[in-house]
Amino acid sequence: MDSIVVTGGGPLSGQIPIAGAKNACLTLMPATLLSDAPLTLTNAPRLSDIRTMTTLLQSLGAEVQGLQDSQVLAMSSHSLTSTRAEYDIVRKMRASILVLGPLLARYGHAEVSLPGGCAIGARPVDLHLRALEALGAELDLREGYVHAKAPTGGLRGGVIEFPFVSVGATENALMAATLAKGTTVIKRAAREPEIVDLAQCLRKMGAQIEGEGTDTITIQGVDRLGGATHRVVTDRIELGTYMLAPAICGGEVECLGGTIALVSSFCEKLDAAGISVEETASGLKVARKNGRVGAVDVTTEPFPGFPTDLQAQMMALLCTAEGTSVLEEKIFENRFMHAPELMRMGARIEVHGGTATVTGVDKLKGAPVMATDLRASVSLILAGLAAEGETTVSRVYHLDRGYEHVVGKLSAVGAKIERVKDA
Ligand code: EPU
Repeated sequence: MDSIVVTGGGPLSGQIPIAGAKNACLTLMPATLLSDAPLTLTNAPRLSDIRTMTTLLQSLGAEVQGLQDSQVLAMSSHSLTSTRAEYDIVRKMRASILVLGPLLARYGHAEVSLPGGCAIGARPVDLHLRALEALGAELDLREGYVHAKAPTGGLRGGVIEFPFVSVGATENALMAATLAKGTTVIKRAAREPEIVDLAQCLRKMGAQIEGEGTDTITIQGVDRLGGATHRVVTDRIELGTYMLAPAICGGEVECLGGTIALVSSFCEKLDAAGISVEETASGLKVARKNGRVGAVDVTTEPFPGFPTDLQAQMMALLCTAEGTSVLEEKIFENRFMHAPELMRMGARIEVHGGTATVTGVDKLKGAPVMATDLRASVSLILAGLAAEGETTVSRVYHLDRGYEHVVGKLSAVGAKIERVKDA
């Protein structure tokens, strides 16, 4: 296993290119299962989660080519050999459940392992299953697998009303509904840019969809979908993460490919904390307005609210802000595991249930730290950039799931960061 060693220091300056979105790519890839024609994704990020989805699709008999050094993924599901997603792959990545809707819609049956628990919360998939039942599917949970069957003649359109917003369940429902007979209405749909990206790609494949980006999506089922080439939307979480680097260490960094529309509520909080964000022709330029960062309160919410996937990184910033900030995590019940690690670096944080109170200190101090999930890992790297001395972040495989070339991207703007092999 590798570690990342960060030495805190001076201001950062330069440009960081932002990759295509992991979470968009992870839902665009299963969309290939809906059609026998090729689906090509460009701007795909080079990440271990994308390789896991590749392995899963290949285990079903799909062809997936590309992505060593290329950002192009060429996929085809013209001759699938299986409709069963095995536990061995699904347990590695919860997004594997996104093959369920497409397989069921195209083949009328599917067996997908239940993902199990996860470091940031229980994360059940009941909403995914209820949505498919609303389209007529019969589901049976046996031996750790969901056994799903469509009625004779295939899934049929229906009204799916989610009790609360779920990104993944909206994606599964949307993909399944494209091939269902008749009209499907998804109410309380997620509005995330990744949903909009999926809908746009499905439309290129021939799907009839209206309302993506609002909380009601209407889908008119079609008999078959064709092929498409689609560019994966910019990763708003990678974008927000790197926007925090100059906010934490000073200097000015331009994040290439970023737009304010992708991160507007995050930008509002940065503004309140004393960070300026300027939209340029090629991205977002970020710098401190003056002096020390100020405290701000943050509550995570579904899009367009403040993203849970930026909460850990924002906490890293607020650890050295002037004053006390309150962070409320409303999406996942166990997403403050970075707090004790930040406290090992001298941060003052108190966690009570879903609320963390952070009182800024003048300086963090480098320390060996580790994290149990992706966003927590990168928050420790950000904290390390601002800390006095050396911070070693272990369990880097979490980071590899969601950030490509983190060392290269941060060194290019002047950070002292390297990846080392553990002894
Ligand atoms: N939930 C249920 N039942 C369900 C589905 C969700 O109770 O059937 C709950 C979850 O446990 C959670 C809440 O609903 O408390 C919202 O979960 P959601 O379904 O929206 O999350 P997801 O689709 O599993 C995606 C991203 C996450 C991101 C969340 C929220 C992907 C592959 N993952 O997960 O990304 O945090 O939306 O925005 O798109 C990450 O990239 O680090 C990450 C965790």
